[in-house]
Parts: sequence; structure tokens; C-alpha cells
Amino acid sequence: MSLSDSQFAALKQAAVDTSGYAWCPYSNFSVGAAVLTNEGQIFAGCNVENASHGLTICAERNAIGQAVSAGCREFTTLLIYTATKQPTAPCGACRQFVTEFSPDIDVICVCDGPDDIRVSMRDLLPRSFGPHNLDNAPT
Ligand code: THU
Repeated sequence: MSLSDSQFAALKQAAVDTSGYAWCPYSNFSVGAAVLTNEGQIFAGCNVENASHGLTICAERNAIGQAVSAGCREFTTLLIYTATKQPTAPCGACRQFVTEFSPDIDVICVCDGPDDIRVSMRDLLPRSFGPHNLDNAPT
């Protein structure tokens, strides 16, 4: 991972700050995510739950949505913060959602304890389905 200390600090700060806005009255599990674009910009998101539980949106997908809505579609690092003792890896839906844009993105999961997870999305979602598969659609 070629992430500078200052980039890591900025990503973590953005994720921690944004987790404070999480709307999670049903799980009480707040999540903040921040993505770094290939041009060095940072976009963050929190999880937004809903009384109709299935409509809940995870922090990672909100962060990507913020970036794409600002015209950014290439990412180098995704950092996920949870206020837990152990780090939390992204759910399956978010792995798929992030892979659409950056299948090789570096993923860092941090928490309030000393442990972290540092892994490539390729290892979290090997042999993924993506835009390339649609090239094989019959004409
Ligand atoms: N959550 C995320 O925001 N990201 C994940 O990758 C896993 C789960 C949220 C969804 C829900 O609001 C809460 O955590 C508990 O599942």
C-alpha cells in the first residue's frame, strides 16, 4: 500500500468524524467510511438505517456515492472505522459495490482497539462479477 502517513490520518479523521452522523437507532452500530481518490480527494459516508430495515445503506456505499456524485470514480484506498474493539470488514454488498469502480482498492479497517485489517479488495472479493462480464453478453 503506498499510502502516506498524512493520507492515512486524513482518511481516518474523515471516517471517524462521519461515523458521528450515523443514523443507526436499530443496531446502535455506527460506521464511518472514507475513500481516497486517485487525485487525492477524500469522500466520506456513514451508515443510514431505516425502520424498514432492508433499506439500510452502509457507510461504504454512501462514501462511494458521495464521490461518484462529485464526478470521482477511481479510488486507491477505502478506510472503514467502527467504534469497536476489533476492526470490521466490509459486508458483501459493499465489496461488490466498491469493486464496480476499483477492484484493486486497498481496504483498511480500523477501530478503537490496536488491531486493524489491511487487505486488497481482490482478496476480499476474488473472481468478482463486474462491468467486464457484460462485455460477454450475446448481441
Ligand atoms: N454496516 C455498514 O455500514 N458497513 C458494513 O460493511 C457492515 C454493516 C452497517 C449497516 C447497519 O446500519 C449496521 O452496520 C449494522 O449492520
